[in-house]
Amino acid sequence: MSEFAKLWAEIAPVGRADSGGYLRFALTEPELTLRDWFRAQASFRDMTVTEDGNGNLFAWRGEPWAPGTVLTGSHFDSVPHGGGYDGPLGIVSAFLAVDRLPSDRKVGIAAFVEEEGGRFGVPCLGSRLLTGAIAPEKAATLKDRDGVTFSAALNSVPSGFIGQIANVAAYVELHIEQGRALTTPVGVGSAIWPHGRWRMDFTGVGDHAGTTRMTDRHDPMLTFAHTVLAANRAAIEAGAHATMGRVQVEPNATNAIPSLVRGWLDARAVDTATLGRLVDAVVREATERAGRDGTALAVTAESVTGEVAFDTALAGRLSALLGDAPILPTQAGHDAGVLSAHVPTAMLFVRNPTGVSHAPAEHATEADCEAGVEALATVLEELG
Ligand code: GLV
Ligand code: MN
Ligand code: MN
Ligand code: MN
Repeated sequence: MSEFAKLWAEIAPVGRADSGGYLRFALTEPELTLRDWFRAQASFRDMTVTEDGNGNLFAWRGEPWAPGTVLTGSHFDSVPHGGGYDGPLGIVSAFLAVDRLPSDRKVGIAAFVEEEGGRFGVPCLGSRLLTGAIAPEKAATLKDRDGVTFSAALNSVPSGFIGQIANVAAYVELHIEQGRALTTPVGVGSAIWPHGRWRMDFTGVGDHAGTTRMTDRHDPMLTFAHTVLAANRAAIEAGAHATMGRVQVEPNATNAIPSLVRGWLDARAVDTATLGRLVDAVVREATERAGRDGTALAVTAESVTGEVAFDTALAGRLSALLGDAPILPTQAGHDAGVLSAHVPTAMLFVRNPTGVSHAPAEHATEADCEAGVEALATVLEELG
């Protein structure tokens, strides 16, 4: 069994559901188990473990936050029934890459909290806190689906620690590729599409499904359904991506017209202007339809991430170092995107033969994961 396969087997069962996907929400039991595993791996390597009070966990070779440290890592949390590679692959690969580095290299491994926004709604929450991109007071009050706040889950108000990010010479995140864009084992990231989440509350009049005449209804489900189709059409026209993958219905009864439908729009586009036009078009269509249905619409931007262009010279250098590895953009968000505003940042992608992510079919072969470890070690050595 390869070193990679051995380490991977340790975490593979943690949080796996019957679907074959994972339920590893930030600061819940499976994710806490993975954090314990992280501490054990660090201690096995004589690395110092620190926490930043924001929910992020670090392992250091050399003094924590020493000037010139190269930081790598990713996240443990998953989306509901997500794949096992999105996030953890970057952390497992980081430990194995550190094993291959000369022992005098100053290197840190990060496990960022709540990258997916799957529990508290704001993606990259940990890296946003670490870089001051979100106020700790705001993060503290974010709630999960059971009403538990982020600070309750953390057992403290987030510290807002941002002190020593400036000491980081570079951040490199290895991640499984999440589409069908990579046909070689390893690629280098160039950019992240701007993207965001908008909560759309469609309010109508709850009533009896049997006795209310069709002409007397104010059914928010109709407005919502129209909006889903409008978002799909507008995204296709714009060469962009729009999804409504999460919905809540009240009272959620078969024989009641809903009083509320709450849907979340996930929209992404190649640039911020296109993204802005796309979201405007969806809101305009939804508002028009609400007028016809006699329903009301309230839109809240829950998180919006602007265009990220990774350091072009660095990407070119790493691609050459890795034997002309392809350089490619991604439409998925990453902590690397948040960090890139503060430190030179690069991403390495590992091929995904299924092209599926955020779903159980996400996959990477053992050989490609080993190639990823090798590439990460090469890059960390070059930058350290
Ligand atoms: C995170 O993976 C995202 O892009 O939604
Ligand atoms: Mn993800
Ligand atoms: Mn990820
Ligand atoms: Mn992500």
